[in-house]
Amino acid sequence: MLGRSADFPYALVLGHLRSVGKHFLDAELLRLLDEIRSSVAESESESVAESESGAEGRDGPSFLHRFLDVVLDKHDDRYDYPSYTALSLLTRPAPADRHEALRSRDEVLLLLLADLVRFEERASTDTPDAPHDMPPSPELIAKRTRLAVRVMEPAALRALPAGVVDAAAVAAVPGRTPGGPLAAEILRTAAPEQSLALSASVQPVYVLHDEYLFLRTLQSFETTFTFMSSALATAVRRLDDDRPQESAELVGTVADVLKESLPLFSLLATMRPEAFQTFRTFTEGASAIQSAGYKTFESLCSTPSLARLASSAYTSVPLVRERVVNGQATVQGTWHALIAEHRLDPADDAALRAAADRLESVHQRWKQTHYRLAVRMIGERSGTGYTQGVPYLAAVLDNRLFPAPDRHGALVG
Ligand code: HEM
Repeated sequence: MLGRSADFPYALVLGHLRSVGKHFLDAELLRLLDEIRSSVAESESESVAESESGAEGRDGPSFLHRFLDVVLDKHDDRYDYPSYTALSLLTRPAPADRHEALRSRDEVLLLLLADLVRFEERASTDTPDAPHDMPPSPELIAKRTRLAVRVMEPAALRALPAGVVDAAAVAAVPGRTPGGPLAAEILRTAAPEQSLALSASVQPVYVLHDEYLFLRTLQSFETTFTFMSSALATAVRRLDDDRPQESAELVGTVADVLKESLPLFSLLATMRPEAFQTFRTFTEGASAIQSAGYKTFESLCSTPSLARLASSAYTSVPLVRERVVNGQATVQGTWHALIAEHRLDPADDAALRAAADRLESVHQRWKQTHYRLAVRMIGERSGTGYTQGVPYLAAVLDNRLFPAPDRHGALVG
């Protein structure tokens, strides 16, 4: 009974998908998977009907249903960035508690990067995992492992039991924790459903080794954006509750976590441009301009300008755009309202200013690094999100998360 998640041959389907690329699945297999999805959907609607008549309720589509939606995105003509990166299999809403939200981000990030380290290291064995065309050299594998470890260490120090990572050694020279053993320890303790989500969430469009790196980097950033959005939403509520110090701390943590994530770009810069230019032929229509996580965190700092809201920056994320248009409260808007109502003392205002400045500066570094990476990887080619590509990224460098009041109306798209 293939329609039952426990019986579904995930490993077989994924093994085949990765050996040919999602873009090249044959029509007969797609038809069969579509049929299985229909029977899953049918049994889900029966159980919803039962739950409405008193039995236990369900929380949305099952894992198998979401998995098949990701496999069938191109077949359905629904292919986009969230489906390419299989976000529905990886991300859950961040927990409301700020410490839990950070822990959840750290745990998912560690799993993603541990899995990447394992994948890279297996490339130098006799039985590398698919996708395995254009394998990297041993030197490139070692470099990728070091860069992945740079991003893993701060999260590992917070989320793993004491002693797994040597805090003093990291403080002295970051990036030296041996990657293989760290990855093995993280994967050894993963729950079965986490292992399944990890493996199900790599569905490359083609057969080149480096696409695995691309997917895991995007997913690591997305996990971070989910945390940033939830922490900023809490920061807005704390301000509204007259707890500005807590709000400033949250904004500061968001800055720190984004800063810790910046070496992800150095890791991705090891992707070989010729590999990227080959597989991106099959990713047309999927671009991180459709990242709801990124636009949510941005629009929780301050309300984007009308020009930006009308541009593809926001028309590519209609649900986020709708929340903004419906008057979503922001850190800057709530902060300025407290000042106008004389509810903020100068020390709290200064703490907020300092945290917002830190976040602004690390976000500017994020955009500049992203811009340089795009120049290196695509040069003058257009974006897969239908912009001109690099010129779009150059134009958004001038935007600010916390614009000075007189600059606000002048922001570009
Ligand atoms: C090979 C690496 C990358 C290249 C060549 C690249 C290129 C681009 C391009 C050309 C755009 C403009 C939209 C479009 O037409 O597609 C864009 C937007 C964007 N990219 Fe990337 N990107 C890369 C990696 C990443 C990574 C790792 C992330 C992290 C999630 C990311 C996040 C974003 C975001 C959030 C936007 C929207 C920015 C905005 O609307 O202001 N990109 N990227």
